[in-house]
Amino acid sequence: MGARLLCLCLLTALLGYYIYSPLPEELAQPGTVMLLSAALRVVGHLSEAAEMLGLMHYMEGLRLITAVELVGPTSDENVTVTDTELSKVPVRLFLPRRAPGGLRSAVLFFHGGGWCLGDAGMHGYDLVSRRISNELNAVVVSVNYRLAPAHRFPAQFEDVYAVTKFFLQSEELARYRVDPARVCVAGDSAGGNLAAAVAQQLLEDPEVKTRLKAQVLIYPALQALDLDLPSYRANADKPLLSRALMVRFWSEYLSGEPALWEAMASNRHVPAEAGPLLPRVDWRRWLPAPMRAGHGHGGPAAGAAGPARPWPGLLDPRFAPLLAGEARLRRLPPAFILTCEHDVLRDDGAMYAARLRAAGVPVTHHHAKDAFHGAVTFVSWPLELALGHRLLNTCLAWLRDNL
Ligand SMILES: *[C@@H]1O[C@H](CO)[C@@H](O)[C@H](O)[C@H]1NC(C)=O
Repeated sequence: MGARLLCLCLLTALLGYYIYSPLPEELAQPGTVMLLSAALRVVGHLSEAAEMLGLMHYMEGLRLITAVELVGPTSDENVTVTDTELSKVPVRLFLPRRAPGGLRSAVLFFHGGGWCLGDAGMHGYDLVSRRISNELNAVVVSVNYRLAPAHRFPAQFEDVYAVTKFFLQSEELARYRVDPARVCVAGDSAGGNLAAAVAQQLLEDPEVKTRLKAQVLIYPALQALDLDLPSYRANADKPLLSRALMVRFWSEYLSGEPALWEAMASNRHVPAEAGPLLPRVDWRRWLPAPMRAGHGHGGPAAGAAGPARPWPGLLDPRFAPLLAGEARLRRLPPAFILTCEHDVLRDDGAMYAARLRAAGVPVTHHHAKDAFHGAVTFVSWPLELALGHRLLNTCLAWLRDNL
């Protein structure tokens, strides 16, 4: 896999040497990031061209990146790995092999990829799950939920919710020798969105008796009302997630209409009914001072979308967990939230941390000043960064102490 990915990176980087990609100054090992960033841009441009020619959907083109990174479910000396189904949803299951003793903890993991891309079998995700399973003696269920554009909100959410709810039944927990008091949800990017949404929805479900111990949100996407937050403005062209791509991901998750995508791109997609929810995503109120500095924009105008454009999912907390009210947030389990300075989604995570804290939920907010979106999965050759190892170790350390 490594060699194929490296070839793709090199080839596309050769093609893409002309594409300037501004890199954060503090970034260590910029070569690797520049190479991948150039590769992504070229694949992005080719996908755009293919879409314009009517050959394929843009996201199908981008899936090439997922495809070259796929690895099979291979067990090793520490972890038994299988691809199976839970509640009719495909999952990759990681069972630690330590000598049987007491009960184990469990992590339901949801991969990133803008609800359109990604797979539990991508090398980076496979490795992250394996390390969690081995180092925490935890059962890891990494969910292959349905993706856009073939499936849209709430399909992605429904899949991860169905798996979580199924797994939390006492017979299932017993089958895997899992301690019901030590189960958490975790995810990165779009997966962080799903993890936050699942944690919220479980509180409203009278059929679920088991409570989550924790939630781990790695640079999560949490709202689509204000796509001009300071972090969206400052990091619009940083690796590996541009503002344009994030806007496209949000619009594909909700609806395929080009009108939505265009309205989101100009931040004029917010319907009048959203008015009462805007204080919940108001960066002037929720961002810490250093993240607010130098920004003057006042937030989206409610009603800009016009009454003829109802996209009801936009205001649904299962789509945008940051829109939940305080009464709901108050009952959530302790959270670990990782944000990266050079990331359009920085402010989503930072605002959720502030809102959870204000609601009395214990929060560990780890803000990495030298990091960019996606860094946690950069833990194996050729996409290996000291930064990736450091951030993953930070997440693992928190889980060791809190799960
Ligand atoms: C198995 O676990 C040990 C101890 O954590 C580690 O040193 C070793 O690299 C692991 N093996 C694999 C294949 O990951």
